[in-house]
Amino acid sequence: TTTMDPIHTQDENNSNQKTVSSDNHISTIVIIIAMQTEALPLVDTFKLTEDRNSPFPKGTPWVRYYGSYRGLNVNILWPGKDAALGVDSIGTVSASLVTYAAIQALQPDLIINAGTSGGFKAKGACIGDVYIASEVAFHDRRIPIPVFDLYGVGVRQGFSTPNLLKELNLKVGKLSTGDSLDMTPLDEASIVANDATVKDMEGAAVAYVADLLKVPAIFVKAVTDIVDGDKPTSEEFLQNLTAVTVALDETVARVVDYIVGKSVSEL
Ligand code: ADE
Repeated sequence: TTTMDPIHTQDENNSNQKTVSSDNHISTIVIIIAMQTEALPLVDTFKLTEDRNSPFPKGTPWVRYYGSYRGLNVNILWPGKDAALGVDSIGTVSASLVTYAAIQALQPDLIINAGTSGGFKAKGACIGDVYIASEVAFHDRRIPIPVFDLYGVGVRQGFSTPNLLKELNLKVGKLSTGDSLDMTPLDEASIVANDATVKDMEGAAVAYVADLLKVPAIFVKAVTDIVDGDKPTSEEFLQNLTAVTVALDETVARVVDYIVGKSVSEL
């Protein structure tokens, strides 16, 4: 017969493939992380392997690490290094592409976007705090025409996880995303309008794609620098990146431990 059984077409042990379970427990997660410094300690924690035969188009720098952690298929997706410049492919363009490609290839039950962020002390943020975003939006897509203005802001909700928040005692705040590490006065006005506590360079892009393809997404953001403080952002960011990554990765590991054996509606 030429009829394809969708479940048994490929190597059963290939963790590329979504496994079918008898209940609605989460079986596959994708963790999108923009910087190598943030990703590698988690690759180690979950004992993941780099996929040398990745499902992504040849020539893309996107890297998939995968493995089974306590029965959960865990994938860490890192957009990799820019081919010309050799630095991490941070920002919304790479994040949206890698999120789209990962959902298409891996059909995750849940996406986690984890990374560092700037925090606003006026909203209670301190260096090393780790936030779960209740809501994400853009702050650098200004289109002052009715309705296009709202399209530009592109607000989306983080997947609601009341039990996880309570159990792990995590901070909650709104996240604002833009493609610049610094903040112009116009960005600042939008960030205030977005009521954001934390500011990053990928979250709203990941949220856009996750919403398009109807995959629940949660956002875990650790604060490396205080945006409304007196230190230059890039200096403070680089100074704190390694130490804050420890806090970020510890929280992501606690979140994943909480997810094991649960369905998305139990989070
Ligand atoms: N990532 C870490 N710090 C940031 C900031 N201040 N703005 C945007 N992304 C960041």
